[in-house]
Amino acid sequence: MRSIEWDETNNIVRMIDQRYLPRRFEWVLCSTYQEVAKAIQDMVIRGAPAIGVAGAMGMALAAINCPDDDPNQFRAFLNTAHQTLRSSRPTAVNLFWALDRIQSVIQRPIDNVEKLKKLILAEAMRIAEEDVVINHQISTHGAELIQDGDVILHHCNTGALATVDWGTALGCIRKAHLQGKRIHVLVDETRPRLQGARLTAWELEQYGIPYEIIVDGAAGYFLRSGKVKKVFFGADRIAANGDVANKIGTYMLALSAHENGVPVYCAAPTSTIDMSIPNGDVIPIEERSADEVLDIQYKGEAVAPIGAKARNPAFDITPHSLITALITEKGVIYPPFQERLLQFLSH
Ligand code: MRU
Repeated sequence: MRSIEWDETNNIVRMIDQRYLPRRFEWVLCSTYQEVAKAIQDMVIRGAPAIGVAGAMGMALAAINCPDDDPNQFRAFLNTAHQTLRSSRPTAVNLFWALDRIQSVIQRPIDNVEKLKKLILAEAMRIAEEDVVINHQISTHGAELIQDGDVILHHCNTGALATVDWGTALGCIRKAHLQGKRIHVLVDETRPRLQGARLTAWELEQYGIPYEIIVDGAAGYFLRSGKVKKVFFGADRIAANGDVANKIGTYMLALSAHENGVPVYCAAPTSTIDMSIPNGDVIPIEERSADEVLDIQYKGEAVAPIGAKARNPAFDITPHSLITALITEKGVIYPPFQERLLQFLSH
């Protein structure tokens, strides 16, 4: 089952609603690009590669629903859709990368609107299919770094739900498990949206991979114990110098791993690498509603005092100096990242 699908019969986008998993499994159906933008914003669908594909399919919906036959008006309509989808979430570069791919189709010198519609849909489908292939390639490279008996600490959700299918960092763990390696995963719960406790744990249950959920603050304790052999996570954006923007808490995790001599692996498709950004300090960090932090109850009662204020940055920056290697579909990249990334991407 894929996290996102295009229904060809009805021309709608179907997404697994990730807000209520694992208690409720529901689909959200989107028939307009505005609904897709809202679904990205509300985190019905989440994870950098998945929101890239959602953006592309949102553009395909806009193209199909556009009433104009005139190519200029058609392009103007799609430009509005592009801007709306672009502003749905700011950090994961995969969204902009996918929208730019669609944009390059729209800009082709073709004046037949029906033909353009077909080409836009085909490009969105291609982006989705490529994502699955790329995840398998990442996972094949990443699984080689995992040994039999490893205890791996994983942050957020980087599995099939965060992509179209299979996953990146969790995909590496999954592939190593299929190779017969015995792995135990410590799953950071990933406050405040609990992508680890809800989504990663739910996926690991289905794959039959042994795991335990830990609170984010326990990561340092386990890393210091000497039992954790590797840290794995994904990325929302990787700067040209190898700095990584990923789910809030990644930086603290990487700091603690580094201090305790535990290797830190970041798995991501090359579409997550943004060579236009020199370092992590200039990556826009989404700040979400304080309600996500404050809406937590204990025995049916709100935990925080009424009227309490909160801050909720959704991502942080892990400096490249804390990262052992980046795992991409093209292979594993070791420091110095600045020059190796350039070499890798030029091939
Ligand atoms: O806010 P989210 O759930 O979209 O954040 C997701 C992450 O930070 C993931 O680790 C990242 O997108 C990589 S997913 C393969």
